[in-house]
Amino acid sequence: MTHLLLSSHIWPDTATIISGRLYVGGCDVTELAADHATPLYLLDEATLRGAMRAYRVALARYYPGPSRVHYAGKALLNTAVAQIVAEEGLGLDVVSGAELLVARRAGMSMGQVHLHGNAKGEAELRRAVEWGVGAIVVDSLDELDRLASLTHGMERPQGVLLRVAPNIDAHTHAHIATGGATSKFGLPLESVGAAAARVFNAEGLRLLGLHAHIGSQIFEVDQIRATVGVLTREMARLRDTFGVELEELSPGGGLGVPYTADMPPTNIDAYAATLSDAVRVACVAYGLRPPLLTVEPGRSIVARAGVAIYRVVARKLGPDGALLYLHVDGGMADNIRPALYGARYTALLANRADAAPGPPVDVAGRYCESGDVLLHAAPLPSAVPGDMIAVAVAGAYTLSMASTYNLVPRPALLLAGGGAARLIQRRETEEDLLARDSAL
Ligand code: LLP
Repeated sequence: MTHLLLSSHIWPDTATIISGRLYVGGCDVTELAADHATPLYLLDEATLRGAMRAYRVALARYYPGPSRVHYAGKALLNTAVAQIVAEEGLGLDVVSGAELLVARRAGMSMGQVHLHGNAKGEAELRRAVEWGVGAIVVDSLDELDRLASLTHGMERPQGVLLRVAPNIDAHTHAHIATGGATSKFGLPLESVGAAAARVFNAEGLRLLGLHAHIGSQIFEVDQIRATVGVLTREMARLRDTFGVELEELSPGGGLGVPYTADMPPTNIDAYAATLSDAVRVACVAYGLRPPLLTVEPGRSIVARAGVAIYRVVARKLGPDGALLYLHVDGGMADNIRPALYGARYTALLANRADAAPGPPVDVAGRYCESGDVLLHAAPLPSAVPGDMIAVAVAGAYTLSMASTYNLVPRPALLLAGGGAARLIQRRETEEDLLARDSAL
C-alpha cells in the first residue's frame, strides 16, 4: 500500500491517496462516484467544521470585544450545511427568501440570520421582518424607505445595518470587487449620515451598526485595515453628529483561498489577528468602545472542503494525433468559475492518482460553449474514458451558482466523514427539470 502526499492547503484535511485512489473523509472517492454517478460533489465534514471553528477561536482570542462569525450562505447553502453552521455556533448571511427558508428549515435561530442584497424584494423584506431576522443589511435609501413603512408601528423595532461603499478598490477580479465608490453595492459615503438620520426617525427600525464588503478572494491585509478605518471613521462621525455610538461593525467576508499549489495557504488565524488589531487600533484612535465585530466568510469556510468528481467521457486528438482535450461529464453548469473569472483549479485522477503525469492537457466540460474548459494544461496522468477526475477547492460558488444549461440535471452533494458519506442534496432529475414546463 502506498501513500501519496497531497498539497494540504489545496485538498481537504482528510484527503489521502491509498494505493493510487483518492480518499476523502475516509471514503474511497472512486467508489462513491460509481455508487452515486458523476458529476458528483463531496464535502469533507472535518474540513468544513474545522474552518468554522478556526474563525470562532481566532476572533475570540484576538478581539478585545464581542465577536461573531456569520457564514455567507451564497458560497454554498442547503439544509445540512445550515445545520452544521448552527451546530458550530455560527450565524448565517442570506440574500433571498429561499435562503431564509433554508435557515428556518435547519432550525436556525432567526436572530442569528442577516438578510443582505442590493435589490431585495418586498416579499423578502416582509418575510425577514416577520420571522425576526437579527438584521437587515440596508443597501440603499430607497430600501430604507420601504423598510421604514413596512415596519411602521411594529412593537419590536427591526435591527438594521447600513451597507457602506467604502471607496476601496479590492485587488481582485473585477466581477468580484464590490468596495469601489461606483460599485452597485452599498450607500455612498456621502449619504451615510442621511441614511442614519432616516433610521433614527423610523420608529420601526433600530440602527445597529455599519457594514462593508469590499470584495472576494482578497489576500491583502492593507485592504482589510482600510475598510475598518473607513467604517470606524463613519461610526465616529455618526456619534459626533447624533450622539449615538453604534454597537456593531461588520467588515464583510472576502478572505482569499488558494486554488493551486503555488498560492499561499489561507491563514484564518492571521486574518483574525490583523482584523482584530485594526479594529482595536481604530477604536482607540476615534475613542470608540470595541463594537460587536461580525465577519462574514463564505469561500474560506467551504471552498477547500469541497471536491468535484467528473468522469472522462472521451479524448479529442488534434490532426497530428496529439491529445488536445479530455471531455468530462460536467463543466460550466456546475462550475462557472473558470469560464466567468478565468479561475484556475487543481485536479488529479481519483482512481489512478499515482500514475506518472502525461503531457499537460485541457479538460473540457460537456456544455455547448467553447469557453467551457474546466482546467487548462492540467498535469494529469494520461487518462482514458472511465477515469475519474477530482477537482479540489470546489466547495464555494460552484453548486450555488449552478445552472441547468442544456437541460442537464445538477449534481448530487455528499457529506463525507468517518468513513461514510451522506447524501445531503440529491441529484436533480429530468422530471425536476421538466416540472415547470407546460405544453401548449
Ligand atoms: N458578505 C457579503 C456582503 C458578500 O457579498 C459576500 C460575497 C461575502 C460576505 C462572502 O465573501 P467570501 O468570504 O466568500 O469571499 N461568485 C464569486 C464570488 C462572489 C462573492 C459574492 N459576495 C466567485 O466565485 O469568486
